[in-house]
Amino acid sequence: MRTHLCAELDEKDIGKEVRLCGWTNSYRDHGGVIFIDLRDKSGLVQLVADPENGQSIETAKLVRNEFVLIAHGIVRARGEGLENPKLKTGKIEVLLHALHIENKSLTPPLVVGDENVSEELRLRYRYLDLRNPRAYEIFALRSKAAIAARNALDALGFLEVETPILTKETPEGARDYLVPSRIHNGEFFALPQSPQLFKQMLMVSGFDRYFQIAKCFRDEDLRADRQPEFTQIDVEMSFCTQDDVMRVCEQLLYAIFGACGVEIPQQFERMTWQHAMEHYGSDKPDLRFDMPLVEVKECFIDCENAIFANIAKEADSRIKALKVSGGDTFYTRKTLGELEEFVRKFGAKGLAYLQFREGEIKGPLLKFLSQTSLARLRELVQPQNGDIVFFGAGAKAVVWDYMGRLRLKIADDMKLFDPKSWRFLWVVDFPMFEYNEEGALTPLHHPFTMPKNLDVSNPTAALSLSYDVVLNGVELGGGSIRIHHEDMQSQVFELLKISKEQAELKFGFLLEALRYGAPPHGGFAIGFDRLVMLLARASSIREVIAFPKTQKATCLLTGAPSPVGETQLRELHIRLREHNKKES
Ligand code: AMO
Repeated sequence: MRTHLCAELDEKDIGKEVRLCGWTNSYRDHGGVIFIDLRDKSGLVQLVADPENGQSIETAKLVRNEFVLIAHGIVRARGEGLENPKLKTGKIEVLLHALHIENKSLTPPLVVGDENVSEELRLRYRYLDLRNPRAYEIFALRSKAAIAARNALDALGFLEVETPILTKETPEGARDYLVPSRIHNGEFFALPQSPQLFKQMLMVSGFDRYFQIAKCFRDEDLRADRQPEFTQIDVEMSFCTQDDVMRVCEQLLYAIFGACGVEIPQQFERMTWQHAMEHYGSDKPDLRFDMPLVEVKECFIDCENAIFANIAKEADSRIKALKVSGGDTFYTRKTLGELEEFVRKFGAKGLAYLQFREGEIKGPLLKFLSQTSLARLRELVQPQNGDIVFFGAGAKAVVWDYMGRLRLKIADDMKLFDPKSWRFLWVVDFPMFEYNEEGALTPLHHPFTMPKNLDVSNPTAALSLSYDVVLNGVELGGGSIRIHHEDMQSQVFELLKISKEQAELKFGFLLEALRYGAPPHGGFAIGFDRLVMLLARASSIREVIAFPKTQKATCLLTGAPSPVGETQLRELHIRLREHNKKES
């Protein structure tokens, strides 16, 4: 029906007869001449209906926003002073020979592309929101990235295999979405949190190298970079070392970014989990700026402030200094108070600091420090005039967390990094286990992760053969080498207090498969939505998902989740508890 896309036209097309199809972005009547901005996926072009052409002007008078038009005309240069430098096609316009209204539209509830429209309204009318060419650009990038991933993995000898959506619970640690079985009264499928168990079984099958662009489902608290339904590029390989798997991940990311026009390193820097926590207070440090935390406990052993002195003597405590170059000039008394409020939200009891100025040092901590301690502190932290040094003291996990967050907040406040840069990092040597809030030992990744140095008498000292890939402070993906020997798997289950019966009930099928000659294997998964979010520099994961859920895990467009009728519930053998029952 058309000769060109709207935004393809430019000065080289002047004089050409063109036929265009699209939607009315806007229209204006200037003393009888009607201007229409026609929009398609590529962008906008201006149509002009001149009174001299009776058909087109009469039709143009009927045009309203979002009407579907088919326009026939000739490309011409815009008159002098009438060019629009903000528009790609701003130097030209199309003088109409004929205009056809192919379809009308109800009055649109939002202006397509208007940044002031609430997200709620945009998600309710997502199909209109997606008419914005910027949205199309994001999905074009997403499509390009997916194709590049497929091609790269295909070239590396990986086979794409689909695994079930109706399945059993997965050991990723979030809540499952359940689907009731009609045929089996009282029984449920779980939607996969990841294809973890199936990809391991494919290794037992000898497929050797598998991948999938897989839908995953997790019923967890949502944030800006989480959705209940999301996509992973999921990879597994056999007879490989940890380095082999990491190398494939680097090759994959290199290919994806390359296809999207971004040159990234072929190999990424590596950092141990311990180093990341001690120096950046995070297992996904943003290294676009350095500003590390410095351990200064030794300077507070003889401190006259009892709180600091006591913390300094505790074994599992930390006292971290964060030097902010130029921070004394940047932060005022008021904004320092705001920083303190900020860290208090994450468990800090306060925020001590020292200000280094020409000829003097100021700050509430100063009077408690001996000359020797102060000299040692200066040696460790190396402050210059104009710097401020913040201190966090307490239990290590709490201090890491709030000082890590403070580091990020300050970098953001002071614009300490180039937001356009790409900084990849591998975090390796994660602890195998941690104690959860209830005091129970739990795996940091999942229970099939291979420990590096397991001593059952001291399980928290064990590290695992697992690795996370971090981009600009966002966890992009992660994976591990898996346990493939039954005796090791039993030891891990025993430590996690998962009984043989429980393990059989939950993952019996995988455990059984592993007994039939499991090869050494490992893999990883990249969060595909997160990757596209970063590549597109989108502000939330919802921007890069065609029909996303809200922060409250609902779909405003379809109204899901929604109540179902009594007949359907009966078929599924479900009776709702009285207090949850909604009218359906
Ligand atoms: P993991 O749980 O770390 O590993 O998930 C891998 C990556 O998936 C992305 N991701 C999410 N993205 C959007 N919304 C969510 N709710 C969400 N949850 C996770 C993240 C994350 O890094 N089976 C293992 C991988 C393996 O060991 O091979 C797994 O799923 O970017």
